[in-house]
Amino acid sequence: MYVGIDLGTSSVKILLMSKDGGIVDEVTEEYPVYYPKAGWAEQNPEDWWQGTLNALKNLVSRNTEVKDHIKAIGFSGQMHGMVALDNMGNVLTPSIIWCDQRTTEECHEITEHFGAKGLSDLVGNMALTGFTAPKILWLKKNAPEIFEKVDMFLLPKDFISFKLSGNYVTDYSDASGMLLLDVANKCYSQPVLDFIGITESQLPNLHESFEVTGQLSEAIKAELGLSHEVLIVGGAGDQAAGAIGTGTVSEGVVSVTLGTSGVVFAAHDDYRVDSENRMHAFCHASGRYHSMGVMLSAANCLKWWSEQASVAEIDDLLNEVDDTISEVVFLPYLMGERTPYPDPNARGTFVGMDMNTNRKDLTKSLLEGVAFGLKDSLDILVDMGVPVEELRVIGGGARSIKWRQIIADIFGQKIVGINTNQGGALGAAILAAVGDGAFESVDAATKAIIKTVDAVEPNLANHEIYKEKHLKYKALYQSLKPYFEM
Ligand code: XUL
Repeated sequence: MYVGIDLGTSSVKILLMSKDGGIVDEVTEEYPVYYPKAGWAEQNPEDWWQGTLNALKNLVSRNTEVKDHIKAIGFSGQMHGMVALDNMGNVLTPSIIWCDQRTTEECHEITEHFGAKGLSDLVGNMALTGFTAPKILWLKKNAPEIFEKVDMFLLPKDFISFKLSGNYVTDYSDASGMLLLDVANKCYSQPVLDFIGITESQLPNLHESFEVTGQLSEAIKAELGLSHEVLIVGGAGDQAAGAIGTGTVSEGVVSVTLGTSGVVFAAHDDYRVDSENRMHAFCHASGRYHSMGVMLSAANCLKWWSEQASVAEIDDLLNEVDDTISEVVFLPYLMGERTPYPDPNARGTFVGMDMNTNRKDLTKSLLEGVAFGLKDSLDILVDMGVPVEELRVIGGGARSIKWRQIIADIFGQKIVGINTNQGGALGAAILAAVGDGAFESVDAATKAIIKTVDAVEPNLANHEIYKEKHLKYKALYQSLKPYFEM
């Protein structure tokens, strides 16, 4: 038995998986996000820990007949958040999490110092407000009395790993989103550490996602009522762990996640970086690399629209939609955007309505707009020369066959689904199984557990029309950009 802990933003999900990948049980515990000022987002790491401990206790007590067979625990976690600990391992300040936008100034400082190309050469990525290094710089400038006391900076899931094992560790995939890791060479970047004003001793030790990093401590075992050895395995950032949970591990496989946010994720054999750094260039939990484009609002656009349209069920909106391509263009930037435009000021828009336009047309344009945003990331991958042989479309939004068809039509390519929707928690449990030696590699494990299902073929006539509409969609952002900046 293997445990996968997925430390998300609104809740922690813990899953119990059998050796063959079967889901035995799952438990979820929620916790709050605090928004103390506009654009700020914080969480209390102790809330994460209490939620995780409660969920673990619940899971173990519900499965007493198999609890002695739990061999290893793996992790998936919201990325980029800054957890600052003192020399006793106590939390010094709330965690500034991935969607916090307070660090625009710090990002400019970092980029000005190294130059965009210089920074990319060091850490493979551009400075984005979500990433960890600008958050640390913010702390240094705005709360120097706390910064002085920091003995260790951890990422969210690694705080849980520390609470369970007592070890300060992270994995290459999650560390890639700190802007402190030399992603190509898998080590911390000394020039960036120097500029931020921290030392390597304040950062966790680096491991592969499938490596054993410690054992469950005696104290926690006693709390859970376990007496045998339980391994703690590295785990991964939520996107990389999610990609393990969808089997997106080999070159040529690309996953498209239609979740709250939208992610286009490509696995690579080697380190690849887009010349303009529009895609994130990160280490993958497979031990290799991946590129990723992140759209900040994907299925969230539909949730927003259902609230505005006052429909009780999102399905009611989807049921109205027919095959007609909408005359209206929707830009999905309701929360600003990351890929392909790192633009926190971008906003959502409907353009092109007339007296005949109705709710159904607007819903259709919204589904198309999100698909165009995802296609923008896919086009960058193609520009980079990345082979796109299989497209796996996953996440809550992918449950809609109509949306899947729109995506296939806009991409002009066949898309497939997979036989599970457990995402990061499953990826975390698979990494635990690999760490324990149940599979010889991450590739072997995903091959055995994840299967593709439900292929959708593109309508090529629609694809031609959508090609034109995609050009309009892109032009619309460029013409509105000056307005967004006002
Ligand atoms: C990845 C990212 C999100 C967060 C929260 O770059 O920002 O996936 O990890 O889920």
